[in-house]
Amino acid sequence: MNGIAHVVARKELIQIGLKTWFERNARDLPWRNSKDPYLIYLSEIILQQTRIDQGTPYFLRFANEFPNIESLAAATLDRVLKEWEGLGYYSRARNLHRSASLIVELYDGVIPADFEQLRSLPGIGDYTAAAILSIAFRKPYAVLDSNVIRILTRLSAFSNEVSSSLTRKTLQVFATDLLDHKAPGRHNESIMDLGALVCRPKNPDCIHCPLNQFCLACKSGHPFGRPMDFPVKKKRARVPHYDIAVGIVLNQNEEFLIQRRAEEGMLGGLWEFPGGKRESGEMLHESCRRELREELGIDVAVGEALPPVNHAYSHFKITMYAFHCSIQSGVPISKKGLPVRWVARDKMSDYAFPKANRALFETLKIGVPLPERG
Ligand code: ADE
Repeated sequence: MNGIAHVVARKELIQIGLKTWFERNARDLPWRNSKDPYLIYLSEIILQQTRIDQGTPYFLRFANEFPNIESLAAATLDRVLKEWEGLGYYSRARNLHRSASLIVELYDGVIPADFEQLRSLPGIGDYTAAAILSIAFRKPYAVLDSNVIRILTRLSAFSNEVSSSLTRKTLQVFATDLLDHKAPGRHNESIMDLGALVCRPKNPDCIHCPLNQFCLACKSGHPFGRPMDFPVKKKRARVPHYDIAVGIVLNQNEEFLIQRRAEEGMLGGLWEFPGGKRESGEMLHESCRRELREELGIDVAVGEALPPVNHAYSHFKITMYAFHCSIQSGVPISKKGLPVRWVARDKMSDYAFPKANRALFETLKIGVPLPERG
C-alpha cells in the first residue's frame, strides 16, 4: 500500500483525532466568532500570503470600516488601498474591491455559495473558494495550501517534489478523501491550526501531535526518515536584487512631488516618490535624473542622498536610494498619463505608499509613522 492509501484507510481515526485536538487547541481568531460569509471571505483574502498575527489587526479594521459588502463596494479604491497599506500584495486589495462591486451587481450583495461562481470572482482561487464554502456554508470542499501540503506529505511520507501541477492534483484528491463531511469547515480549520501550532515547518512538535500514530514521516525507525524531510521541494533560484533611485522633490510651498502607480501590476494604485531601476553601469544619481526626465519630463539637479532602504518582495529584493532633487526646468507631467500631485507634508499620510517609500518618511520627518499593525 502506498503512503496516501495507508493514511486514507485510517481517515475516520484521523478525523476524530483532529476534532478532539481542535476542540482543545483551536486558536481564538476574531472571524471565528461569526458565520457571516462576508467576514469569512474578508478574513480569507487578508490571510492569503499573510501571517495571522499580521493580518488580524487589518481584519478588525476592515470589518469595522466596511462592515458589509455594500460598504466595501461603495468605498473608493484609494480608501481601500489606504486601509491595506503595509500589508503587501496589493492586488488582493484591488481584487477585493472589484469583487465586492461584482457581488453587489451580480448577486444582490449576497456572497455566492457556489464554487464556480466564487472562483470566477477576482482574487478567489481554489483555496479561498474551498475555505469560504466549507467554513461559511458547511460545503464539502477541502483546502490545500502550504500548511495542508506539509501535513499531508508528512503523514504519507510523500516523496515526490510538490510544485508540479500533477502533484497538486494528487494532494487535492488526498485532502478531499480525508475531509470530514460532517463538519468540513471545522476539519479544514483544524488542519490549518495543526500546521501552524504543531506540524510546523521547522521544529515540528511530533510528541504532542494528535496524528503522530498515523504519520509515516514521524514513525520511529521508519525508512522514510524525519518529518523535516517533507514536503520535498525544488532548490530555490537565487532572488534577484535591484537598485532603485528615487527623487525627493519639494516645491516652494514645501509640498512633495508624488505620483500614482498604474492600477495594473505590482503595487498598482499606490502612490510613490518618482524614480525607478538603476540601469547597469549607471551611477545612482544618474538613474535618478534619467527616471525623473523619462517619467515626468523634468530636469533635476540631484543633491544629498538619504540613508538607503532595503526591502524584500516575494520574488526579488530592492535597495532604494532616495536623493533630494530640485527642478531645473520643466513641469512634472506623467508621460504615461498617471496622476501626479504636490502634497503638503501633513497630508502625505492620507495616501497609501509601498513600505520602502514609507520607510523614507521617518528620515524626511513626514507625518505620523505607520501605526503598529502586528
Ligand atoms: N489561514 C487561512 N485561513 C485561515 C483560517 N480560517 N484559520 C486559520 N488560518 C487560516
